[in-house]
Amino acid sequence: MARTAGSLQIEDDTQTPARPSLYEQYRSRRNRLVAHPTFQRWAIAFPLTRWVARLQANDLFRLTTGFVHSQILYACVELGVFAHLADAPGTVDEIAARIGVPEEGTARLLEAAAALRLIRCDAGGTWRLDDLGAVVAGNPGIRAMIRHHAMLYRDLSDPVSLLREGGGETHTEQFWAYGRDDSLSGERAAAYSDLMAASNDLIAAEVLQNYDFSKHKIILDIGGGNGAFLAAIAKEVRDAELWLLDLPGVAELAKRRFEADGIADRATCIGGDFFADAIPTGADCITLVRVLCDHDDRAALALLENIRRAMRNGDTLLVAEPMAGHDADGSAIAAYFSMYFLAMRSGRSRTPQQLCGLLRTAGFRSCRPKPTRMPLFSGLILAHK
Ligand SMILES: C[S@@+](CC[C@H](N)C(=O)[O-])C[C@H]1O[C@@H](n2cnc3c(N)ncnc32)[C@H](O)[C@@H]1O
Repeated sequence: MARTAGSLQIEDDTQTPARPSLYEQYRSRRNRLVAHPTFQRWAIAFPLTRWVARLQANDLFRLTTGFVHSQILYACVELGVFAHLADAPGTVDEIAARIGVPEEGTARLLEAAAALRLIRCDAGGTWRLDDLGAVVAGNPGIRAMIRHHAMLYRDLSDPVSLLREGGGETHTEQFWAYGRDDSLSGERAAAYSDLMAASNDLIAAEVLQNYDFSKHKIILDIGGGNGAFLAAIAKEVRDAELWLLDLPGVAELAKRRFEADGIADRATCIGGDFFADAIPTGADCITLVRVLCDHDDRAALALLENIRRAMRNGDTLLVAEPMAGHDADGSAIAAYFSMYFLAMRSGRSRTPQQLCGLLRTAGFRSCRPKPTRMPLFSGLILAHK
C-alpha cells in the first residue's frame, strides 16, 4: 500500500483492513448505545456488566487525570524523594526536613505517590520505596526524562493551538536545537546529548541483547550523539572499529567521551551533516538509533537514501528506536510520541511496517523487524541494500 506525505509516495507495509459495512454499522450502533446515559445506568446496575463499566470508568478517569499523576512523579523526582528514601526510609517529619517542604505538603505528596505505587508506608508510619519508585531511584536516565518533561508539559498546556500550528516557537523545539540552528552551540548540543546519553543504556542493552555486533569490522553510528551507544558496544565487542557521525559540535563531545573512556584508539568521530554530506564509506554495519523518528518522511527518506549510497551489498543497516504499534507497548509509544514530536515540530513515531516501507522506498532490498524484550525502550529493524 502507498501512503502520501505531501507529494511524496512512500511504500507502506501497513495492511489497512477492509472494513465490512456490516461492521461499521455495528460499531455506530454500539457507540450510540454506549454513549447513552440509560445504557450506562443499566450497565452499572446489572451485575454481569458492572465490572466492564467500572473498568472503563477507571480507564477514562486515569486518562482524564493522568497529567496530575505525571506531576506527582515530577515533584517526587525534583524534590529528591526517591533518592532520600533509597538512602533511608523515614517518617513524614523526617522526609519533610530532608526535602524542605512543610509537613502538610510532604504528607500530601507521599500519600499521592503511594496511591501511584511509587512508595509505600508501613504500619508504623515509615515511608519507603515501592517497586516503581525503586526503579526511578536506580535509573538516572528515567529521572532525566521525567525532569525533561517539564518542558513538554509547558508546550502541551494548549494542545489545540499546538495542533493548529500556532503558539510560536515551542520549548521542546528550542531544546532540540539541530532542527533549527545551523550554528549549533556546544552548550545546546551538550544539553540534548546529555539527555540522550542518560537514557541510552536502556536502548543499548536492548539492541545488544538482540544483535551480535561481533561479526562486524567497522560499525558506524549515524547521529550517534556523544557516543553512549558506541561506548556500550565497545564493552561487548573488543575488535571492531567504531565510527561516529554527528554534527561537528556533537562529534567533538563524543571524541572527548571516547578519550575519557579509553577507547579513542579504535573510535573515529566525524563531524558533518548527514543530509548534506556524503556518508563515509567502508563500514559493514551502520546504526541509526533514535534518529529516524526525529524526522518527517521526506527528510527520513533523504537520510536513508544517503546512507544506502554509502553501503555495499551485504552491509547491514540497523534501526533502533521506540516503534508505534497496536499492542499495549506500541499504543503507549504512539500516543506519547505523537504529541512529543508535535511539540518538537518534526518527526513521528512509526510502526515497524511504516519504517520498512520507508526503507524499501529508499531502495533497501530486505527489511526485517526483530522483536525485542522491552519494545518500550526500543524496537529493532535490520535492513540490507
Ligand atoms: C535524538 S538524538 C539521538 C542520539 C543517539 N543516537 C541516541 O539515541 O542517544 C539525534 C542525533 O542526531 C544528530 N543530528 C541531527 N541532525 C543531524 C544532521 N543533520 N547531521 C548529523 N547529525 C544530526 C543530533 O545531533 C543528535 O545527536
